[in-house]
Amino acid sequence: MGIEDRKINHLEVFQKHNPVFSKTSTGFEKYRFLPFTVNNNSLQDVNTETNFLGKRLSFPFMIGSISGGVKEAYQLNNDLSKIAENLKIAFALGSFRPMLKSGKISNSYEIARKNAPSVPILANIGIGQIASGEWKNNLLSIISDLELDGLMVHFNKLQEYIQKDGNTDFSNLEYELMELIDKIEIPIIAKEVGNGFSKKDIEKLTILGFKFIDVAGAGGSSWAKVENILASEDNKVNPSFLEWGISTSESLINLTSFKDVFPIVSGGIDDPETMTKALALGAKITSSARFIYQTYFNNGVDYLENELRKWQKTLKGIMYLTGAKNINKLGNILKKNDE
Ligand SMILES: Cc1cc2nc3c(=O)[nH]c(=O)nc-3n(C[C@H](O)[C@H](O)[C@H](O)COP(=O)(O)O)c2cc1C
Repeated sequence: MGIEDRKINHLEVFQKHNPVFSKTSTGFEKYRFLPFTVNNNSLQDVNTETNFLGKRLSFPFMIGSISGGVKEAYQLNNDLSKIAENLKIAFALGSFRPMLKSGKISNSYEIARKNAPSVPILANIGIGQIASGEWKNNLLSIISDLELDGLMVHFNKLQEYIQKDGNTDFSNLEYELMELIDKIEIPIIAKEVGNGFSKKDIEKLTILGFKFIDVAGAGGSSWAKVENILASEDNKVNPSFLEWGISTSESLINLTSFKDVFPIVSGGIDDPETMTKALALGAKITSSARFIYQTYFNNGVDYLENELRKWQKTLKGIMYLTGAKNINKLGNILKKNDE
């Protein structure tokens, strides 16, 4: 199966199914907000803005990587990039593997940059293309042609392992990652795809030179389930992999102990309450993919934009009611349910 067909199949799986973890949760439900009522504040003075990759966001949110350099992604990226610009939030494009070979900039990437000049736009590539050295074909020119603000490298080892013809040779990975970090001038973000990074992983990523990490933990989309839906009867995944990984909240707590790393959180950030809890536990940017894609597909672009406006409004309301005047004051607004 070609990469383009596979990307389309992935979108179709999210249209017809809901491939999420069923036993593993993000862990954020174990926390509740601590009201702080007796203080001088006003709703209009609460400020949800933040900076990310040198640009101003209205709140700390990024549309997660969904689809990249395939023809079918054009309309999606056209619509999502307009939302990103209107709301002043970041936009991460899906994998641009299809562009690496040809070196030709796909319309679906070009349109995003054109529609969203004032917010961060990030490109996305998998460790398969890093370890194999494929990234050396054209990556530098793609980054400069599109004036990208950041590059996301997704670590999808489980997914590759499960795919029938997936990549299982990562013997060059660390060497190639170091070379990538050395050659690329824009910020590079290491990202999981919904199975979370362990403390050992994060330690290794920092040694290799990563300064930005998106934990993309377990509790939201399960890529083992996605691949299982696509696999023939003979190639179904062993059930032990369907709930594989570290929950998003646990992975975030691991990450925040590394003070020099910019913490990003995704994996099951499906509502504004969960987003705010992730920020309160130390995330500087939050991100969501499945919620974005399914809401867009089922309800349309205007509905999605309005939903995300409500996310910002709810974040502001929670900050007001917990006494946090700005994003940097979000610590200490949570309590664990059993404490
Ligand atoms: C339809 C769809 C396509 C995706 N494609 C990519 C991709 O190309 N590159 C990538 O790094 N992650 C991709 N992801 C993974 C997400 O960016 C994210 O890490 C993961 O799904 C967990 O977040 P969620 O629970 O909010 O979906 C995709 C997710 C969805 C739902």
